[in-house]
Amino acid sequence: MKTRFWINFVLVVTVVCMPGCKKKTPTPEEPEVKETRLMSAEKESFGQTSDGRQIDLYTLTNTNGLRARIMNYGAILVSLEVPDRDGNIADITLGFDALDGYLKEHPYFGAIVGRYANRIGKGRFVLDGTEYKLAANNGENHLHGGIKGFDKVVWKLDDIRAEGAPRTEDSKAIVKMSYISEDGEEGYPGNMACTVTYTLTEDNELKISYEAETDKTTVVNLTNHSYFNLAGQGTGDVLGHELTLNADKYTPVDEGLIPTGEIRSVKDSPMDFTMGMSIGSRIKQVGDGYDHNYVLNSSPDLSLALAARVYEPTSGRVMEIYTTEPGVQLYTGNFLDGSLTGKAGKVYKKHYAFCLETQHFPDSPNKPNFPSAVLLPGQKYTSVTVHKFSTR
Ligand code: GLA
Repeated sequence: MKTRFWINFVLVVTVVCMPGCKKKTPTPEEPEVKETRLMSAEKESFGQTSDGRQIDLYTLTNTNGLRARIMNYGAILVSLEVPDRDGNIADITLGFDALDGYLKEHPYFGAIVGRYANRIGKGRFVLDGTEYKLAANNGENHLHGGIKGFDKVVWKLDDIRAEGAPRTEDSKAIVKMSYISEDGEEGYPGNMACTVTYTLTEDNELKISYEAETDKTTVVNLTNHSYFNLAGQGTGDVLGHELTLNADKYTPVDEGLIPTGEIRSVKDSPMDFTMGMSIGSRIKQVGDGYDHNYVLNSSPDLSLALAARVYEPTSGRVMEIYTTEPGVQLYTGNFLDGSLTGKAGKVYKKHYAFCLETQHFPDSPNKPNFPSAVLLPGQKYTSVTVHKFSTR
């Protein structure tokens, strides 16, 4: 009897409420209110690795429609959705829809790369008189931390939160992860504890900050290896993107892409992006495309400074990169060859994306004239890179 009363009561209340709950048709004086977006940081399952480790996806959203999805496998930036000049949102990073794609061989899509991003010549270096040997996983050289680098390990979630939610001027959505790389891992000396923090702000910035400490002298160089296409991932090549680099110099390389040690001016060469040029304007003059480290004009100052600005004319999207690092690797997806099918069934062909990997210069452990990448016990390694989005 009692139950019946409550069922009837609920039905009545629902029916009475319904007209009020209906979407209001907007009048010309009263424009339709757009869906309210809130600053948020959320966690959900993204699957499991083959050895049963739980992988989670962290979604950071701001009130302007920017959304970054990050996972604890490789601390990978899985997607980055950004509005164009008309407010249309597109994912501007290459990658895969599901975890599965990331567990197979792929060229570091969105990953945090370490312990040493980029190349170390002949996979060896000497520290305090001891020679350390690393995996030769790129011809005779060592690339991106070795066979199982930081891009292929499961990071631990330390913190996920939305500060100032649902919305204040300085609201932020934050996810922080940590990883302990053991002494001898991939040949590197010292137990190194590191953290990476992704922060999405109301100013449309995605900031990536790194910290590391070691118990033995080691080398460290951490970066994010996102592949960007500001027209939207998988939509075509990036040769029409306009690139400005705040770099008057670069580090020329040998055939194995190891710097020769020279620091050369970009002046009067296809390497010059100081004035802003389309990526494709002179790409045919640099072999397969760009895969070079630029010496930032801020180097070796190490305070946050503008490194690059990229503008995509059809969408109007602009990405600026600020970094505390002395260098940036411009890589134009030269090895993408159509053999990988990524998000939304898009096939990734040559030059379908560009990477701007903020970093210490390649092979610094063997180049005494380059800014040092050595980390001593008791020191704290810190590095910050900000991706700032706007349109024009
Ligand atoms: C970096 C390197 C390139 C290539 C890509 C991954 O950007 O500089 O040579 O190895 O990573 O494919």
